[in-house]
Amino acid sequence: MYARTIYMIDLLILCVSLSKQEPRNIQLKPPNLSGQYRINVAPFEEKANDVQIEARANTGYPCNGTFTKTNGTTCGLKEIMLGRCYEYQYIKRGLYLSNTTDIKNCTELYDLFESEVRYKPYCNMNMSTYSKYFEKALAGVHVINRAIFWSGTYAIAHTYSGHGSNYITLEDTLAAHMLDGLMWCGKENDTEGFDYVSCPNNCKDNRWADLAFWGLASRTFAERVSGEIYVVLNGSRTDGRPTYRNGSYFAEFELPYFKRNGSFRVTKINALVLHTPDLPVAEKCGEKSLVFLEKLIRDAQLEYNCVDDPDELIMLMCADSWGARECQVARNTLRKLWDIKLYGTSNAIVHSLSFVVLFCIGVFRQIVQ
Ligand SMILES: *[C@@H]1O[C@H](CO)[C@@H](O)[C@H](O)[C@H]1NC(C)=O
Ligand SMILES: *[C@@H]1O[C@H](CO)[C@@H](O)[C@H](O)[C@H]1NC(C)=O
Ligand SMILES: *[C@@H]1O[C@H](CO)[C@@H](O)[C@H](O)[C@H]1NC(C)=O
Ligand SMILES: *[C@@H]1O[C@H](CO)[C@@H](O)[C@H](O)[C@H]1NC(C)=O
Ligand SMILES: *[C@@H]1O[C@H](CO)[C@@H](O)[C@H](O)[C@H]1NC(C)=O
Ligand SMILES: *[C@@H]1O[C@H](CO)[C@@H](O)[C@H](O)[C@H]1NC(C)=O
Ligand SMILES: *[C@@H]1O[C@H](CO)[C@@H](O)[C@H](O)[C@H]1NC(C)=O
Ligand SMILES: *[C@@H]1O[C@H](CO)[C@@H](O)[C@H](O)[C@H]1NC(C)=O
Ligand SMILES: *[C@@H]1O[C@H](CO)[C@@H](O)[C@H](O)[C@H]1NC(C)=O
Ligand SMILES: *[C@@H]1O[C@H](CO)[C@@H](O)[C@H](O)[C@H]1NC(C)=O
Repeated sequence: MYARTIYMIDLLILCVSLSKQEPRNIQLKPPNLSGQYRINVAPFEEKANDVQIEARANTGYPCNGTFTKTNGTTCGLKEIMLGRCYEYQYIKRGLYLSNTTDIKNCTELYDLFESEVRYKPYCNMNMSTYSKYFEKALAGVHVINRAIFWSGTYAIAHTYSGHGSNYITLEDTLAAHMLDGLMWCGKENDTEGFDYVSCPNNCKDNRWADLAFWGLASRTFAERVSGEIYVVLNGSRTDGRPTYRNGSYFAEFELPYFKRNGSFRVTKINALVLHTPDLPVAEKCGEKSLVFLEKLIRDAQLEYNCVDDPDELIMLMCADSWGARECQVARNTLRKLWDIKLYGTSNAIVHSLSFVVLFCIGVFRQIVQ
């Protein structure tokens, strides 16, 4: 009798652990792509006239000892840039750098960059400041049929590019990857030569200073792409901006610089217009600012094609916000298909669960008897 009770208790424990295997008890969070960024400075067209020079009470060097978040140069700028450069070339190789002889000298690239900014006042920079850096860093780059541009869609465009394995965005090139998400500004008469406390990001008398790096980066990249190119646009902006916007990086520094002649010329521009789940549709292909974009492109003798929400991108958007209304049906359908794949029937889990319940009721009865 005693042995039997022990046996029953074991069975009961088994029941409890069986019913715990129900996979949907695990609650995972959807990925959050909105934390991805490229530049932590304000876009130039938002330029306000009031230059905020921060109070320089803290004039110390904030980069050793403890970490203090500032609006100044990223601590470890040089080490980050060199590290990214080596990592890119020795680990992430194979993007468009398929040729083994094509290694760039990271020290030389960093030195070119540094010589243009260190000890120099930020607001004196202009669109030719970094030209030597880009000449070297983007030398030999030809992106054929795989270039993606983006405007208001940073996160999804980069997820889709697969960081260079599917498509190539500006930020997937060595030149831009080294600085992506970093901040920097030079400081005259300073031991470090960089201002680690506060960068202006907004030069009243010289808007080109704010564009010096990313403007030239965009332009140099645009000059090196060819064939069919893609531009991922946002058809559900909530900030009141149009899908194609005069003054965007795409409009100012990319579209006008695509090569129109020679063997490395752009032939066709595919606009991919995305509508974010749970947000209203503001513009679709063939509407409003996209009509203007089409005219610009056709006037430049380029082919134009516009697609609203390609399937691949819908899947990515739903992955990012899987609780959204538009994504629910797809999510349920996928669940069913996956259950069939795993268990041969979409109700497999329900069946096995009810089996466990029946089995456990039986065990419980035995114990009570
Ligand atoms: C996603 O990340 C951003 C920036 O890190 C944050 O502001 C936002 O609250 C996050 N959203 C969710 C749903 O966690
Ligand atoms: C902080 O950095 C300065 C400048 O690089 C250096 O001279 C100093 O020794 C560092 N202090 C500490 C505590 O690491
Ligand atoms: C950085 O700048 C923003 C906007 O000007 C300001 O709100 C924030 O307080 C600043 N942060 C620091 C650490 O100075
Ligand atoms: C590699 O690059 C070098 C110099 O850019 C070039 O001469 C050579 O033909 C390339 N090799 C291959 C296999 O593409
Ligand atoms: C890389 O560039 C640096 C600085 O220009 C130079 O001192 C070094 O010799 C170069 N290294 C190679 C391997 O060419
Ligand atoms: C950019 O600045 C450099 C040095 O400050 C100057 O020599 C050059 O003329 C400027 N270029 C333009 C286009 O303003
Ligand atoms: C830096 O030093 C030079 C020469 O001493 C001086 O003319 C200049 O005004 C200084 N700049 C700043 C920003 O203090
Ligand atoms: C489009 O822009 C809005 C903000 O204006 C943003 O919330 C949304 O995530 C963007 N959509 C995509 C696909 O990036
Ligand atoms: C392409 O056009 C530009 C000006 O639009 C011209 O400078 C260049 O020589 C042309 N290149 C070829 C290969 O025709
Ligand atoms: C962009 O600017 C041009 C004039 O340069 C204007 O005709 C056009 O309507 C503007 N387009 C948009 C979408 O604002």
